[in-house]
Amino acid sequence: MNRIGIRRLAAEEVGLKTSRYRFASDIETYKKAIKEIGLPAVVKPVMSSSGKGQSIVKEESQIEKAWFYAQENARGKGGEVIIEEFIEFDFEITLLTVRTKNQGTLFCEPIGHIQVDGDYHESWQPQAMSPVALEKAKDIAKKITDALGGYGIFGCELFVKGDEVYFNEISPRPHDTGMVTMISQNMSEFEIHLRAILGLPVDIKMTAPAGASYCFHASDWGVAPSYEGLEKALSIPDTKIRIFGKPTTRPKRRMGVALATGQTVEEAREKPKKAAQSIRVVE
Ligand SMILES: Nc1ncnc2c1ncn2[C@@H]1O[C@H](COP(=O)(O)OP(=O)(O)O)[C@@H](O)[C@H]1O
Ligand SMILES: [Mg+2]
Repeated sequence: MNRIGIRRLAAEEVGLKTSRYRFASDIETYKKAIKEIGLPAVVKPVMSSSGKGQSIVKEESQIEKAWFYAQENARGKGGEVIIEEFIEFDFEITLLTVRTKNQGTLFCEPIGHIQVDGDYHESWQPQAMSPVALEKAKDIAKKITDALGGYGIFGCELFVKGDEVYFNEISPRPHDTGMVTMISQNMSEFEIHLRAILGLPVDIKMTAPAGASYCFHASDWGVAPSYEGLEKALSIPDTKIRIFGKPTTRPKRRMGVALATGQTVEEAREKPKKAAQSIRVVE
């Protein structure tokens, strides 16, 4: 989860293309860094996930606010932030990359996704991309996972702009956007992770031409939530619901995900969206 370690490894040791960046642990250094990077800039706590404490600074009046927002929403102590150049990408992907003992490095079909305020809301597989961009994506994922080492699945996050591919970050474990594989692949990202760690055979093939996932959220604070609308949601063909079983709710907390397959990505995306929108979390 440490953005300093991973960014330094990716950009400075492995030499991957990333957004321009600076680190700052006090507000003076931060302001100087924003000037050097230029606006718009993305500000993130060094320790955080799911977009927590993250903001896009578009104009000067937002600079101080972004600093304090990052301070208040970092995980654990320590107020260090990363300041990044904003990349106007065409789309972003997660390339699930598997390091195995006997099959070398395998790449699942690329997963496209949509983030709202830095938090994943929707994903689909496969994301269509040019052969050049796909080769670059695989090359980046291979290099960074080789540098990290070990066996298992990694979620390599990449920004794609034309044929250019930027490394964003990587998780050494299944990835939230990869939940789509619970329906789109013969083996989910979780099964693949376990098998790769155990040295057992791994299969990355898809079971349908396309798959998609769409999250549903709580809207209020509560305990022991219940779920309405499951009958309607599950009446949509080829659709499944996964409720995470979180014991408490808060506004915007992700509580579960709807999954579906389809003949095309467009068709696959329609179904879980409808299903997720039929579900109401009762706090
Ligand atoms: N430099 C950037 N330029 C453009 N968008 C960005 C940039 N950094 C992050 N984002 C957007 O914010 C999302 C979350 O940022 P990320 O660095 O992946 O943090 P997290 O660890 O919270 O997932 C990304 O998936 C992307 O949509
Ligand atoms: Mg991310």
